[in-house]
Amino acid sequence: MNLAIACGSGSRRLASAVAARLGANGVVGEVERFPDGELRPSVPELRGVDVFVVASTGPPANDHIVELLLLIDACRRAGADRVTAVVPYLAYARQDRRNGVGQAIGARVVATALGSSGADRLVAVDPHNLALEAAFGIPVEMLSAVSALSDSLLPEAAPDAVVVAPDFGAAKLAERYGALLGLPVVVVRKSRVSGSSVRAKGLVGEVEGRHAVIVDDMISTGATIASTVELLLADGALPGMVVAATHGLFVGGAVTRLAELPLRRVLVTDSLELSEVVGLPLEVTSIVPLLAEAIRRLHQGEPLEALLAKT
Ligand code: R5P
Repeated sequence: MNLAIACGSGSRRLASAVAARLGANGVVGEVERFPDGELRPSVPELRGVDVFVVASTGPPANDHIVELLLLIDACRRAGADRVTAVVPYLAYARQDRRNGVGQAIGARVVATALGSSGADRLVAVDPHNLALEAAFGIPVEMLSAVSALSDSLLPEAAPDAVVVAPDFGAAKLAERYGALLGLPVVVVRKSRVSGSSVRAKGLVGEVEGRHAVIVDDMISTGATIASTVELLLADGALPGMVVAATHGLFVGGAVTRLAELPLRRVLVTDSLELSEVVGLPLEVTSIVPLLAEAIRRLHQGEPLEALLAKT
């Protein structure tokens, strides 16, 4: 079976780099936007092809999700034998439960829509919650960029350093970094006030006189990082903190907010295009090798185990 890489409008650079690494013949997929906002993706005939649709669903999340669903349907109708949605950043993953009466479970709705659009399988990278798999009726492969990011963090692995999880949800992720860097883990007790405001209430662990490496699945508005840094400084941690997150959304004033903090390095991956992020000590680790290797193994029916996020 031949392989093809299709892509959405928000991930063209990433998809092209993955295709080039795989030696594939470029990427397929065009998206036309109608004056009323409707999207119409199109692909060439893909009869009998094993198609991987590479499409992160970063901002504007709703447009990118609809575009992904339509692209998958287009691939199916173009005769694809198998369609794998490769969605490095999966929007709505944070809405994995209701926090109050009358709310939706956004992650479940997106999972159902992806399954019914015709995708045979989903590949995501460090989604907010690994248990999210249970919301999907199709197989889900959760890759991890932790080991690639940890390689860039090795110079931080000093005896006086700690890995900091900015909330309990990030504790397992922090343990994975801690294990790879040989550092202890400290966890922040955080509560979310709104989509752009959080409160760090206290710490489980010791940070006085220590260098902190704050790790998270994503930076959105930067509010979580800002309140974590504030708490760490108040508890005696050293300034010049390092932040590592798989997905850099940088929305809602994040760049200004983070630029005011005593951060020495901010590490993210290229799961999302980062054209407007200036003024931060930003370093980008590419997930192109990870995605290309996962696609190669899936296409050839080889085990993925070594690339997967560990629970
Ligand atoms: C939430 O639980 C996530 O793991 C991140 O900590 C959060 O989504 C980051 O968002 P923001 O940058 O807006 O605080």
